[in-house]
Amino acid sequence: MTAYEKLMKCCECVKAKVDFKPDIALVLGSGLGAFADEIEVVQTLDYNEIDGFPTSTVEGHRGRFVFGYVGKVPVVIMQGRVHYYEGYSMQDVVLPARLMSLMGAKTLFLTNASGGINPSFSAGDFMLITDHISSFVPNPLIGANIGELGTRFPDMSEVYSKELRNVIINTAKELDIKIQQGVYVQLTGPSFESPAEIRMLRTLGADAVGMSTVCEAIAANHAGMKVCGISCVANLAAGMTNNPLTHAEVQECADKAAPLFKKLIGKSIENIAELG
Ligand code: HPA
Repeated sequence: MTAYEKLMKCCECVKAKVDFKPDIALVLGSGLGAFADEIEVVQTLDYNEIDGFPTSTVEGHRGRFVFGYVGKVPVVIMQGRVHYYEGYSMQDVVLPARLMSLMGAKTLFLTNASGGINPSFSAGDFMLITDHISSFVPNPLIGANIGELGTRFPDMSEVYSKELRNVIINTAKELDIKIQQGVYVQLTGPSFESPAEIRMLRTLGADAVGMSTVCEAIAANHAGMKVCGISCVANLAAGMTNNPLTHAEVQECADKAAPLFKKLIGKSIENIAELG
């Protein structure tokens, strides 16, 4: 089965079970899934109810779509995403983003937990993603181009929409929430980076590092979606403190940041919808 055939099969399966047209798609990263419990939920669909859909195996990731409203805005939320390090192909990893585009979502709002590389960042900071470095993971568009979605050689000069970034910056100001800005680099994981790798990534211009998001942003941009992303800096990256890194620490920090994060995401979505 080609990637496109698989996508269409999943899409038909979802459309047979869910009659809902989202405007905005939101992906909730590690420890940030609680946002979906607070919206006006219309329906949920577990990933394992979708034939051929990659299902998430990471602790702290729920593995379902939540359809509902943030204020008056119809949204589809991924409560838990799929990662490359789980063993899926990059095409599978980006299938959900493409699926949400086919359901009608025009905007993809990505979130994640990351390690802070920029020395001016602290654990618990939010970082608006201004650009990314994808060079350490396979490109999700490798293989026959899916012409139904987009062009063979898509432009990536503004993956994270300037217009959406401005809305998020203004929303953070309105809510009096501090937000950093910077470049996010995706590595495959699942091991955390070594201190030497972090020094290398800093030299290359990265401000935060994680194991997701960039591939989804590329696929969404290819498919013509507007994209924005906020990273929750869960820890300072390897070698920047004396502590070893643990998934539990990432989880704990994301939990602490969750209340502010929910406010920022919720209000940003409402303000983005007002752009029309
Ligand atoms: N590195 C990679 N991914 C991460 C980190 C990190 O330090 N923290 C949270 N996700």
